[in-house]
Amino acid sequence: MAKNTTLFFCRECGGETSKWLGQCPHCKAWNTLDEVPALKTGGKTSRRKTISQTPEHINNLSVKEDSRISTGIEEMNRVLGGGIVIGSLILVGGDPGIGKSTLLLQMCRNVSEKGEKVLYISGEESMIQIKLRAERIGDFKGDLMLLTETNLLLIEQAIEETGANIAVIDSIQTMYHEMSDAAPGSVSQVREVTGTLLRIAKSKGITIFIVGHVTKEGNVAGPKMLEHMVDTVLYFEGDNSAAYRLLRSAKNRYGSTNEVGVFEMKGNGLAEVPNPSEYMMQGKPENESGSVVACTIEGTRPFMIEVQALVCRTNFNLPRRTAAGMDYNRVNLLMAVIEKRLGIRLSDCDAYINVAGGMKISEPALDLAVVAAILSSHRGKVMDDRTILFGEVGLVGEVRGVSQAELRVREAKKLGYMTCILPEANIKSIGIKGIDRIGIKNIRELLNLM
Ligand code: TYD
Ligand code: MG
Repeated sequence: MAKNTTLFFCRECGGETSKWLGQCPHCKAWNTLDEVPALKTGGKTSRRKTISQTPEHINNLSVKEDSRISTGIEEMNRVLGGGIVIGSLILVGGDPGIGKSTLLLQMCRNVSEKGEKVLYISGEESMIQIKLRAERIGDFKGDLMLLTETNLLLIEQAIEETGANIAVIDSIQTMYHEMSDAAPGSVSQVREVTGTLLRIAKSKGITIFIVGHVTKEGNVAGPKMLEHMVDTVLYFEGDNSAAYRLLRSAKNRYGSTNEVGVFEMKGNGLAEVPNPSEYMMQGKPENESGSVVACTIEGTRPFMIEVQALVCRTNFNLPRRTAAGMDYNRVNLLMAVIEKRLGIRLSDCDAYINVAGGMKISEPALDLAVVAAILSSHRGKVMDDRTILFGEVGLVGEVRGVSQAELRVREAKKLGYMTCILPEANIKSIGIKGIDRIGIKNIRELLNLM
């Protein structure tokens, strides 16, 4: 029996309900549910339609090896899973000023020089502004066209007229669809525009990059649905005050989401950082107390980072503590563990902890290095420069195993470190020769080593 279904969609989050409600049950916004025309499902009433494509056996389909285009930027190719997949929709999110437009312009230059027809559409900058940026980046020899436009229908026309096969939309929040009355950047506009771009990409086989700004929470502004609609979501992140940038994939229909690309913002655009560990260790002081080296993992890549601590007697009733690059509460917790388990009085000490280079680490594997840096600074003991540490520290002062220990040790060996202090639990799983491994069970053993 055919059944008429009425559905309601939330204008804010795109959530779906079967009945009208005053408040969206998904995003809790008020008065945002719209009724959509009833859909007919099943039953004999639905007329048989001809299918535009005949179903194919999966084994009869072949994938051409060259269905990916290289961006000419190795770090970007890696994150995309080997290059740009033709006809895909790729969302690039990030804070304002982080370098999204610069990265995409560099990518456009590279692919256009390889013979692709590229159209860069900006709703934020004038052509002259884009040209000024381009002059900083270098020469442009390929077939790259610029357009400043925010009306999507005109953009669609321009893509058709120029015959572009790669297009960049900078940014989705400035574009609007004539059919919708909502303001550009509003959720319904973003949904409308993305839907149209999706249709263009899939029907014409055009690859479209969409730039999206992120909200305070770090999501691309607009409904989560935007992320559902596109094939790939990349986030470009970093500290505005530091030069390095990370390109991370949050979703990728054509590759792993574990990859990160590392860049450095220079005077002439973004430069790739193929060896992030060496980059992060630049300028590390030698033979100074309060500075230790840790190994952290970003995606599948190990990074050496320097953890610094400055612990000194406080002049205040309440000691001052700061943590840059890691969680402040975690630092307080680790200091409490040191005080309780090692009997070292820190409650009358100020402590400043810093992950050098502006990286932000949330991995607990950094705990052991933080403890070592605090002890090193407090006691004035220098930690050997050729030693790295990693491990999670628990509340009873135990040092717990971490994931990917072997990868971390291998990276340390590759960079010429001599000793690795790591959780005892990880020792067995590591079969690497040529680097000393010291397994420890608790932070007292760490103190004894120092
Ligand atoms: P931009 O790509 O405009 O950021 P987004 O599109 O993410 O908002 O990057 C702007 C920043 O990058 C700006 O602060 C200037 C800086 N920049 C450089 O340092 N070197 C360069 O060569 C370029 C082009 C920009
Ligand atoms: Mg921009």
